Amino acid sequence: MNGPEPGDGSGDALLPDAETMRRLGYRAVDHIVHRWAGLEADRPWRGATRAVAEARLDSPPSEDGGDIEALMDWVVQEVFPLAGRIDHPRFMGFVPSGPGWPAVLADILVSGHNVFQGTWLESAGPSQIELTVLEWFRGWLGMPEGAGGILTSGGSAANLLAVVAARDLAGAPEGGVIYLSEQGHSSLERAARVAGFGPERIRKLPTGPDRRLEVEGVAAAVAGDRERGLRPILICANGGATSTGVVDPLPELVALARREGIRLHVDAAYGGFAVLTDEGRAALEGIGEADTVTLDPHKWFFQTYECGCLMARDPGELEQVFRVSAAYLQDTHLQDREVNFGDRGIQLTRAFRALGIWLTVQSAGRRRLAEAVGAGIALGARAGAWIEAHPELELLHPASLGIVCFRYRPHSEGPQGDDPHSDDLRSDDLHNHDLRSEEGLEALNRELQDRMLHGGHAMMSSTRLDGRYSLRFCILNHRSRWSHVESALEQVVLEGRALA
Ligand SMILES: Cc1ncc(COP(=O)(O)O)c(C=O)c1O
Repeated sequence: MNGPEPGDGSGDALLPDAETMRRLGYRAVDHIVHRWAGLEADRPWRGATRAVAEARLDSPPSEDGGDIEALMDWVVQEVFPLAGRIDHPRFMGFVPSGPGWPAVLADILVSGHNVFQGTWLESAGPSQIELTVLEWFRGWLGMPEGAGGILTSGGSAANLLAVVAARDLAGAPEGGVIYLSEQGHSSLERAARVAGFGPERIRKLPTGPDRRLEVEGVAAAVAGDRERGLRPILICANGGATSTGVVDPLPELVALARREGIRLHVDAAYGGFAVLTDEGRAALEGIGEADTVTLDPHKWFFQTYECGCLMARDPGELEQVFRVSAAYLQDTHLQDREVNFGDRGIQLTRAFRALGIWLTVQSAGRRRLAEAVGAGIALGARAGAWIEAHPELELLHPASLGIVCFRYRPHSEGPQGDDPHSDDLRSDDLHNHDLRSEEGLEALNRELQDRMLHGGHAMMSSTRLDGRYSLRFCILNHRSRWSHVESALEQVVLEGRALA
C-alpha cells in the first residue's frame, strides 16, 4: 500500500465529535495557509509520467479506514505537489487562476452546508445570492435590465449552453450553421459538435492581420450560406481570444447579427472581467449588446475552480430551452419571480458557486478587484514593451488583456553557435537547423519552452500564430508583480542564449 497505514479506526470517521472536527478542519486550513505562504519559493510546475504517478500514488480502497490526519498530510506531501501551481506569481502559461482567500473560505462554507441549488424550494437564500451576483455581472457588462444567467462549471459548459440555446431557439433546423473565429476557443467547436453541428455546418472564419474577425468576411460567409439554402444561426465572437487576448469588433458584429436575425455569442471566458477597468471596457465595447456572454470567474475574477457563467440577454430563453418537467419535481413549482436554476442549464444538482463571488466582492470591494484586473493588463503591456525593446526577442502579437506572444530570435549580429557551452545543450533536432530559418526558430523556441517548463523558474506556454510557433505569457494573477514578469522574461533570454 502506498501512503500511511490504516489507524485504529476509533470514532466515526463520517461524524467525528465537535472537537475532532475543529482540529481536523484547522489542520486542513493550516495546510492551505502553509502552501500559500511558501508559494513563491516553490516551483510553478512539477509533473510526473503516469507510470511514476501510479507507482507512487495508486492504492486499493481501505476496507476499515485509516487515520485521516495522516492521510491528509500524505495527500499534501505527495499528491498536490505533482501539479501546476496555477496561482504561482510566475505561472503565466495557458490561462492562470489566482483565487483570493475569500473564495477559498466560501468553498469551505459551501462544502460544509452542501446546499442543493437546483431548485428555489431547496435553496431560496443561495439562489437569491446567485441572482444578486448575476445582476452585478449584468451591470458591469452593460447588458440591458432583465438580462441574467447562470453559474456553470466553467467556460466550456457556458459555451455549450449558449450553442444549444441558439440551436433550439432557431428551431434546430437541419441546415443550421454556426460561425466561429479561427482564433476562437476549442470549447466552442466542441460545443457545436455536441450540439449536432457536423463539420460542414461549422464555419471557422479566418481573421484579419490583427487576428480579429473581419465583419465583411462574416457577412460574406452568412450570405453565401443563405444562397446555398442553409440557415445561419449563431456568430461566436471573442471577448479576449485565448491565444492572443484580442477582442473581435463587437459593435459591428452586433449590428450584423441584428440585421441578419442571427444570434451573437461573445466568449469572454478569460477576458470578460476586464470590463471592470476603463481600458478593458473600451476594448470590450458592445459586449452588453450580445445575446449571450460567457464569463469565467475562475480565471480573472479570483475564484476557485469550478466557476463559470453564462449571461443571457433574456434568461427566460434559457429556461425555454432547458426546462424539463418531471413528476418528482412537481413540488418545486415557483410562485412569482423565483428561479429554479436547474431550469437554466444542464445540471440539476448544483453547488452554491455564487458564494465565492459574493464574498470576494463584498469583502475586497469592486475597486480593489478592478485594480487587480488592471494590474494584469498593465503587466502584459509592460512585458510587450520589454520584448519589443529586446534585440533577441521578437513580438509576434502585441499585448492585449494580459496576454503577450513572442519568440526568441538569436541576435542577427554575431556568429551563431559560437559558445561551446551552448552547443552541449542543443538537441539533435536543433543541431540540424539553421537557427534563423523559420524551422530553426520553431525548433529553438520549442526547446526553450521545454527547458522553461522543466527548469522550474517560471511557467509559460505556447501557441501558433500564422503557422509560427509562439511563446506566450498570460498574466492574470493578483500575486504577479513586474519583478516576476521581468525575471521570467530574463530567464527566457538566458535559455535562448544557451540554446542558440
Ligand atoms: C476564451 C475561452 N473560452 C472558453 C474557455 C474554456 O473555459 P473552461 O476551461 O473554464 O471550461 C477558455 C479557457 O481557457 C477560454 O480562454
